[in-house]
Amino acid sequence: MEVYTEKQQLLKVVEDLKAKNLSIGLVPTMGALHQGHLQLVKRALGENYKVVVSIFVNPTQFDKKDDLEKYPRTLENDVSLLKTVSKADVLVYAPTVDDIYEGHAVSEKFDFDGLEFEMEGKFRHGHFDGVGTVVKRFFEIVKPHKAYFGEKDFQQLQIIRKMVEKHRIPVKIVGCKIHRESNGLAMSSRNTRLKPEYKKAAPFIYKTLKAAKEKFGTKSAGKVTEWVENQFSKHELLELEYFIISETETLKPVKRKSNKKRYRAFIAVYADDIRLIDNIALN
Ligand code: PAF
Repeated sequence: MEVYTEKQQLLKVVEDLKAKNLSIGLVPTMGALHQGHLQLVKRALGENYKVVVSIFVNPTQFDKKDDLEKYPRTLENDVSLLKTVSKADVLVYAPTVDDIYEGHAVSEKFDFDGLEFEMEGKFRHGHFDGVGTVVKRFFEIVKPHKAYFGEKDFQQLQIIRKMVEKHRIPVKIVGCKIHRESNGLAMSSRNTRLKPEYKKAAPFIYKTLKAAKEKFGTKSAGKVTEWVENQFSKHELLELEYFIISETETLKPVKRKSNKKRYRAFIAVYADDIRLIDNIALN
């Protein structure tokens, strides 16, 4: 399996594939790969001739230095995991910060039509400008036909769709279902950092989301939110940061339910110092 650390090397391969009209899929990641990522890679392999998996802990999307420093970096293990999926058809791009940012690791400023101000945008300042900057850069380098993103970061997925539309970037964005542990916990690179008691407690998040979905069938968004907040206020280990029911397209919090619209519930929870997010489609 080829691991490229410099874009010049990767560009040669990409240009060759493009010249032969062969399709390229891109799975952008920050490494610390798990089964959820591998599902994205498998889907991409099924739909493209070659798949580029980028592994890059992007400094511009972290608002807390500590979080950036503690983010797991496990390249060797990531490559071994990818080899279990395909040795020949996956290309790894694991650049340095300089290879991506050329000495200027600063975010571009984007207008995502307000998507960036909801939920994660309120709690992680500058996060989506950082994500937009690096993903746009990857699109410029890899020039993929399709790019694959997990629905766990649903707001990110909608924002990338918006960026592609507004900047007319010729790539098809494919959203992929959340991959969960057998106990329901959404797979995340952060899960490996959970202390045992928090790991045991964390499935409560999805359990509560499923119950909230059930309640949303008969109750207002306000009542469901109150119920969820109450569940977490009684929980000894998990601390709720937010629970919000929003319209799927605009991510605006629901005011009055309409059966013509689609809704999703979003949640962020602290398990000790680890921040976990999850979401569920409600209708
Ligand atoms: O979802 C992630 O892992 C990151 O936000 C992404 C899309 C790879 C950009 O750094």
